[in-house]
Amino acid sequence: MSKKLIVFIVLSVFALSIAMVGCGGQKAAAPEKPKVMKVGSDTAFAPFEFQDEKSKEYTGFDMDLIRAIGKQMGYEVQIQGMGFDGLIPALESGNIDVVISAMTIKEERAKKVNFTKPYYKSGLSVVVRSDNNTLKGFKDLEGKNIGVQIGTTGAEEAKKIKNAKIREFNTAPEAFLELKNGGVDAVVNDLPVNEYYIAKAGSKDAKIVGEPLNSEEYGIATSKKNPELGEKISKALDELKKNGEYEKIYVKWFGKKPPQ
Ligand code: ARG
Repeated sequence: MSKKLIVFIVLSVFALSIAMVGCGGQKAAAPEKPKVMKVGSDTAFAPFEFQDEKSKEYTGFDMDLIRAIGKQMGYEVQIQGMGFDGLIPALESGNIDVVISAMTIKEERAKKVNFTKPYYKSGLSVVVRSDNNTLKGFKDLEGKNIGVQIGTTGAEEAKKIKNAKIREFNTAPEAFLELKNGGVDAVVNDLPVNEYYIAKAGSKDAKIVGEPLNSEEYGIATSKKNPELGEKISKALDELKKNGEYEKIYVKWFGKKPPQ
């Protein structure tokens, strides 16, 4: 064999083995890490978001829904609790990617963030102490002391009531506690949350009076800087509505099928 041929063969084997290592390397590459979705929520708003007393885990309709959406999208969902009025600023600054927090879709908010299609139909109502027989609805709230959660649609509506004194609390449970203690005459807050509060804790303490004031719809919010994420979430929500998963979660928390 000529020297040239030997050199050629050695080099060829060398090149081939490098090529093979390349292939093997590709095959053995670690599976792609799941993408992470940082979700912010004010987690004191049962039955939408609250902490399970025993496990301390975040639970509720919104929590189940966003976890199901994340799963559908192949994202890991990390939930962070924060004040309701801090949620939109946190989205805008990029500290979180998503807000799910029984947040009503509103024009002013939609100027700052993107909302998905509505995922829950809601509205506001009035809660008073069980032994109060004079306050029968919104129309009786003029000049009264009213408790609300800061930054909410309830706060906004209560502020329109003539001569009412509005007390703003960081969380809805604090407003309910103040009602129980006699510090306010009424609480204006989301109807399903009022119903849940009364059913779970307070039927001897509180009752709902009058008709719901309005109708509101909740949406999931994402940053305007990341429209693709909002679209992916909307798509996943549609898929969960089609495959029955959304209905399952709805029935779990509200004991009835979602309205059509
Ligand atoms: N739906 C009302 C709003 O958007 C109240 C939401 C409060 N949510 C909460 N997790 N505390 O203003």
